[in-house]
Amino acid sequence: MTQSAEKTDLAQIGVVGLAVMGSNLARNFARNGNTVAVYNRSPEKTRALISEHGDEGAFIASENVEDFVASLERPRKAIIMVKAGAATDAVIEQLTEAMDEGDIIIDGGNALFTDTIRREKEVAAKGRHFVGAGISGGEEGALNGPSIMPGGPAESWETLGPILESIAANVDGTPCVTHIGPDGAGHFVKMVHNGIEYADMQVIGEAYQLLRYGAGMEPAEIAEVFREWNAGDLDSYLIEITAEVLAQKDPETGAPLVDVIVDAAGQKGTGRWTAINGLELGVPITGIAESVFARALSSATAQRAAAQEGQLPSGTIAELNVDKAEFVEDVRRALYAAKLIAYSQGFDEIKAGSEEFGWNVDPRDLATIWRGGCIIRAKFLDRIREAYDNNADLPALILDPYFKGELENLIDPWRRVVVTATQLGLPVPVFASSLSYYDSLRAERLPAALIQGQRDFFGAHTFKRVDREGTFHIEWSGDRSLTEM
Ligand code: 6PG
Repeated sequence: MTQSAEKTDLAQIGVVGLAVMGSNLARNFARNGNTVAVYNRSPEKTRALISEHGDEGAFIASENVEDFVASLERPRKAIIMVKAGAATDAVIEQLTEAMDEGDIIIDGGNALFTDTIRREKEVAAKGRHFVGAGISGGEEGALNGPSIMPGGPAESWETLGPILESIAANVDGTPCVTHIGPDGAGHFVKMVHNGIEYADMQVIGEAYQLLRYGAGMEPAEIAEVFREWNAGDLDSYLIEITAEVLAQKDPETGAPLVDVIVDAAGQKGTGRWTAINGLELGVPITGIAESVFARALSSATAQRAAAQEGQLPSGTIAELNVDKAEFVEDVRRALYAAKLIAYSQGFDEIKAGSEEFGWNVDPRDLATIWRGGCIIRAKFLDRIREAYDNNADLPALILDPYFKGELENLIDPWRRVVVTATQLGLPVPVFASSLSYYDSLRAERLPAALIQGQRDFFGAHTFKRVDREGTFHIEWSGDRSLTEM
């Protein structure tokens, strides 16, 4: 065991796994006055942390789990920051073994919430507490203040709360961390956060695509547009970094960086989980799902290459024939509308998940702790919080009076943009599917009635009537009479 700076006897918190996220989190704890125990499977990373940053606060470094656990104050609190999956299970087992009754193991990785539910049961059976905590904000957030979404037992929050509050981002005096709910609630909510992140990034991408290839603007010019947008309703971290990325030149060629990056988007799986879960819960999170598919499509390089070789007819492609400034403003509004839909759908999924698993998640908590530190932090989260403050049982975020008012001003530009994109032959999967979602919600009658008729025709799946209770079937292959089942 080695020690740095003026440490107190024991550490208030420990971090296992000292890759960038883990070591930044450990530094954040230390910089905020906590004595931090650190341990990594390969000791080089631990030594590097101490030699490069040991002077930032009080660290106790260990080279095996037993020493690490022994260096923690009781009830012991250790955050695991290793790769989600088997590595997490291995560390949990070691810690559970070395810890005692009432100690707290926190998984700060992007774990699948069903794994968290399982782990919580296993760890609880051995008398330890397990907290699955979503942590958002990337490397910079981990160091300077992330948004933290801890699940697990409420009593662990009492112990953990103050220490997590000491490192979380802070907006208007409120730390961006709160107890989300039992067992997998924290990781579930983080998963949906990432789903919204995917959709938010995709709608920004669609706006860029329209300005670039529809309005013929250069990346540097579009960067300016995003800077302006960031001063208004769209004010958010993702819009801010979009301007940075678009303004960046390739250090090697001097070309706009965005032009030298291969246009195939990667993913580590949290967006996909959000979409799968939406399907399982039956929540139409169309914007999130489309944005996951858009990444998959971008990476279907062989198919795209074959299609580009003139294989697929384009139909008539129009030129943009509207005033550029007006088009830019329309695109801004379409982006805002599609983003609203993505958040609205994400909150729907959280509500459905909370009901399914009995978590009692309060949407106001999320609107509060997502205002700072996390990737989807945005000015309009204040409005989302107000919306749920005014009505905790809002049937959908977009039905809040403020957002309905916003949609009054967005709907026509949004329709125009989807029409124009179609005429220009430019793909806008989330702009367009979100508009269809919106129109589907508004529609007095949906073709689902016809689908029910078809289902009854080929499979006697029955249907309900609009004019009375009951379940009905038509004798399709007989006299076509109506039978009440
Ligand atoms: C965050 C991020 C972070 C990470 C995700 C998404 O909230 O800090 O969401 O968790 O960026 O893993 O990454 P992918 O785009 O690779 O799925």
